[in-house]
Amino acid sequence: MTKTIAFHLQKGGVGKTTISGTLACQSALAGVPTLLVDLDPQGNASSWFLSETPHWELADVVQGKCYVDDAIVPVTGIPNLFILPTFGIGGTLKLYSETKLADEPFVIQDLIQEFKGKFEHVILDLSPGLGRLEKSALIASDEVITPMTPEAFSLDGLEIFIDELAKLKKNFRSPIVHKKVVINSYDERIKQHRDIYKSAKKGNFRIYQIPVDPVFRKSQELKIAPQLYRVKGKGLKDRTLKAFELMEKEIWS
Ligand SMILES: Nc1ncnc2c1ncn2[C@@H]1O[C@H](COP(=O)(O)OP(=O)(O)OP(=O)(O)O)[C@@H](O)[C@H]1O
Ligand SMILES: [Mg+2]
Repeated sequence: MTKTIAFHLQKGGVGKTTISGTLACQSALAGVPTLLVDLDPQGNASSWFLSETPHWELADVVQGKCYVDDAIVPVTGIPNLFILPTFGIGGTLKLYSETKLADEPFVIQDLIQEFKGKFEHVILDLSPGLGRLEKSALIASDEVITPMTPEAFSLDGLEIFIDELAKLKKNFRSPIVHKKVVINSYDERIKQHRDIYKSAKKGNFRIYQIPVDPVFRKSQELKIAPQLYRVKGKGLKDRTLKAFELMEKEIWS
């Protein structure tokens, strides 16, 4: 059965792309056919995993310019990982979401139906904000997981997101589940981080913690899976690996 997960908080730079991309690699490296859908007009996930600009992008698919199978590309060097890309330059997805998406809020939901039977795990990387595109992606997802950084503004953002998601669920009759939070760049030794963890915990969330790990940035520069990055025998921190192993185990079950 196909499960679709979106990683979202309307706040920018909290690790949405890093976490969705790394989890997609984790799933693919475990042998599961996995699709990462780049729903961010910035195209960060696509530039992370693709060395060349592909012929078609997501915006072409939703506008009927090509078939979805024409636009999905395999990621070189990571078996079982595929991406439905967005080109950061050109702004086609942004233009589409500003001009046409209002008339077709279920376009992403319809698109995801086409992945059934082809991919077991589908991960959506969204852009910051909570506009039409993000809403259409959320109503297409089985679950949304919120990445946040251990700071007060992220916590405020989580509260706003909970409120907005409740409205979305009601207005679109969406059964989307929101029970998990990832605190990114977490350091147990810092009191402020522990306080943010405690506050987030009050929302009854299952919380995962990811430490600051320079391998993410390096793997994004080198266009490889963070799990495959090695310099002098060193790769991701043990704590980072453990967090993703745990997420992989719990998120898809
Ligand atoms: N745990 C981490 N340790 C070190 N660097 C990290 C970590 N998580 C993310 N980063 C870095 O922080 C930057 C922002 O991360 P990322 O692009 O994933 O955030 P985002 O939420 O997707 O941003 P946007 O809102 O623009 O889409 C990137 O350069 C990334 O490499
Ligand atoms: Mg991003």
